[in-house]
Amino acid sequence: MKILVIGAGGREHALVWKLTQSPRATQMWCAPGNAGIGGETLAANGSAVECVGIGAEDLPALLAFARDNQADLTVVGPDNPLAMGIVDQFQAAGLRAWGPTQQASQFESSKIFSQEFMDRNGIPTMQSASFADAAEAKAFAASLDGQCAVKADGLALGKGVLICNNTDEAIGAIDQIMTDRAFGEAGSSVLIQELITGMEVSLHALCDGKCAKLFPSSQDHKRALDGDEGLNTGGMGAYSPVPFLSDEKLTEIADSVLDPWLAGCAAEGIDFRGMLYPGVMLTDDGPKVLEFNARFGDPETQIYLTRLENDLVDLLEASIDGTLAGHELRWSAQSSVCVVMASGGYPGSYEKGKVITGIEDADALPGVKVFHAGTKLDGENVVTNGGRVLGVTALGQGLQAARDLAYEAAAKIQFEGAFTRSDIAAKAL
Ligand code: GLY
Repeated sequence: MKILVIGAGGREHALVWKLTQSPRATQMWCAPGNAGIGGETLAANGSAVECVGIGAEDLPALLAFARDNQADLTVVGPDNPLAMGIVDQFQAAGLRAWGPTQQASQFESSKIFSQEFMDRNGIPTMQSASFADAAEAKAFAASLDGQCAVKADGLALGKGVLICNNTDEAIGAIDQIMTDRAFGEAGSSVLIQELITGMEVSLHALCDGKCAKLFPSSQDHKRALDGDEGLNTGGMGAYSPVPFLSDEKLTEIADSVLDPWLAGCAAEGIDFRGMLYPGVMLTDDGPKVLEFNARFGDPETQIYLTRLENDLVDLLEASIDGTLAGHELRWSAQSSVCVVMASGGYPGSYEKGKVITGIEDADALPGVKVFHAGTKLDGENVVTNGGRVLGVTALGQGLQAARDLAYEAAAKIQFEGAFTRSDIAAKAL
């Protein structure tokens, strides 16, 4: 089977790494990929994964490539091409692509769609309202004493959410998004949600239009600095499973979200085939959904796929074909921890092109896999090419062992300005 993976981050490296282990995969490309992806080889025949210089949002070029090279399966990693309708376009051209359609991707691409769906279908969530008028938005924010999240409706590279603690901050946030259009047209409408407190966890469920197969528990660390301080990032590290969530509790939480979600999709004619990733806050009043994503999380993918024992090609095909009910997901009993190494300055501005050393030494530790995110080849060197640079991922017998190993591996890697959080998974221990 010839497989094309779309994307360039740590999530896509993890997807490629796992897909290369399938005996069914005989040729693989990644568009555009990164230095680590280009170093992977297929278990079936030893051939190398080829990085193709096409951007993840260049839909016409991706379609032409898949058609010309007769790709049997295209796996879409990031949210933007899904929101642009890549799966619909591939399907219309008679090509198989994994991921939700443009309509189904609205769970992520429109925060207002998603919130209204939750409200209509009895999915536990926060008090909220949406606005196309800034003055009305400000009045609602004031009614919450300004303690709210102001979210640009559309996709904004993960940056369109502003957390406010008082009315002045909320008014400033609404002006920034709606008046100044800091996130472009994504901010023509906003969703305002009350702030809630608790522990945030990531759920993932692989869906096939009819059923949702729940993944184990995991937790991301979204803030840049230790102690959940600093700016929001794409994710500075993650771990699985989450020891303070028993399997029974996880199932109970997931049922409270996924049962009404599946019923709502059926009632409203939404055929969701792909990954549903709800961000859930565990509050004193029970679990509440903060947001839905319509793709694998990053860095959650890195920890999930190091624990997954099934053939990922089989699962993604079943997700497309509506046959997931016949598959049982199997997971390693080991814990997995991913520590992200980032460029100095991230999530603000940062320099690129810093030479990275020590990756091979880290990768050589048993149980360690270094996933590349923002890297590229510069001659013989692997150099930094993004904010999140590497996801150093380790499996261990228990969370403490996995965590110790991930940090031991990360300590072997150097590049100018590199930083990690030092407390990934610490709150679970
Ligand atoms: N883990 C954060 C995200 O994928 O959006």
